[in-house]
Amino acid sequence: MSNSEQGHTCVVGLAWGDEGKGKIVDLLCECYDFVVRFNGGANAGHTVCIGDESFALHLLPSGVLHPEKTSVVGPGVVIDPSAILEEIDGLAKRGVRVGENLRISDRAHVVMPYHKLEDQLSESSAQQGGQIGTTARGIGPCYADKMRRTSAVRICDLMNFDSLEPRLREIVCAKRVGLSAVYGQDVVLDVDVIIASLRADAARLKSFVTDTGVLLQEAVATGRRILFEGANGTLLDIDHGTYPYVTSSGTTANSVAPGAGVSARTVSHVVGVTKAYATRVGRGPFVSELNNEIGDHIRTQGNEFGTTTGRPRRCGWFDAVVNRYSASLGGVTEIALMHLDTLSGFDEVGMCVGYRLDGRDITTPPAHVDQLERVEPVFEMFPGWSEDVSRVGTIEELPENAKRYLRRVESAVGVPITIVSVGPERSQTIIGATCAMTEVNDAASS
Ligand code: IMP
Repeated sequence: MSNSEQGHTCVVGLAWGDEGKGKIVDLLCECYDFVVRFNGGANAGHTVCIGDESFALHLLPSGVLHPEKTSVVGPGVVIDPSAILEEIDGLAKRGVRVGENLRISDRAHVVMPYHKLEDQLSESSAQQGGQIGTTARGIGPCYADKMRRTSAVRICDLMNFDSLEPRLREIVCAKRVGLSAVYGQDVVLDVDVIIASLRADAARLKSFVTDTGVLLQEAVATGRRILFEGANGTLLDIDHGTYPYVTSSGTTANSVAPGAGVSARTVSHVVGVTKAYATRVGRGPFVSELNNEIGDHIRTQGNEFGTTTGRPRRCGWFDAVVNRYSASLGGVTEIALMHLDTLSGFDEVGMCVGYRLDGRDITTPPAHVDQLERVEPVFEMFPGWSEDVSRVGTIEELPENAKRYLRRVESAVGVPITIVSVGPERSQTIIGATCAMTEVNDAASS
């Protein structure tokens, strides 16, 4: 990023989520006025470590930890009112006040109790044929209602509760009948309880609600700087991910425009966050997976357990094929490579540099899940390094074998690495000498 460029930036995950986007957004925040969520919901889990304190955020943008920044939850996000209020209250208990600095879109859709119930029923019901392994946060059913329109509830509906209430009574009744029929059990949904709790939540949310599209368009027009914070990961994208084992929203920088309510020309820099190895939670194809003691070792070393669900993550070697695919799809301009420290101590470190399907080399992941399940990885092996790198401050100080590995990641993905993370804390970050990054470097060391 040169000095003359004053663009807006988007941070996205290049894999299946959990790449460490929260830490990168928190670091980059210093250079921006707004931090904006544009997709997903409480399925996301962003962990931000500040000093000895660790904050796990799900719906709130990581910017809320910086009260002088405006944090925005855009119209593309699906909001569980009780979950977002719980997060706000949890932060307040730890001395982080969320007030004027949080703006919530009046057009965002509401995750209702019946969405969460449907998500759980669909995952636990054997006859539904093939569960996705969702986070059970009601994300898919809420986006499905958004597309269906007639049964959807938006944040602006909550602001006009008297007109919503009769419609809600009909929706809840229809959901009870529908879910009972589909899942063959008597589903209990107490409409009075739902309405009372939603009414209370709506009253508390009111002060945060506004037309965030207009707010951000004005911010762009007046030269304020915006950081867009992607949730989940590119390979979980509803259109381009490993379908059907994906989430229900657009997870790349291409979804910033609809999900935040700004023009498609807004984002000029895209930071693709990815780990030095690969992980996945939930079901679905994972070509470079290591179902052996090496995978177990990565899980233990990297503490690879879900922030949102606590599930152990599946682990494997870095997959250059899908990272290249994700970077190209989302217009990624620079890479933040996370968890390099986790790879210390391996005799050899592997990288999946190619795919073979039915005896043929292929360069991109095939569309059909059956084909993707049949793909065999082509691994390249590198000599490992034994040194602890968690306090290394510059690329030059890294062990030669680690540098060689980073250079191969860059050449295989085709995008420069400008940030290398060697631990959870802000100070454990090697930052390239680019404009915004240098500012961040100064801020992190001050
Ligand atoms: P859903 O988003 O809860 O519907 O889950 C769909 C799939 O996406 C499941 O495999 C989840 O484990 C996965 N998923 C959704 N959000 C995240 C995330 O932020 N990190 C990792 N996996 C996620």
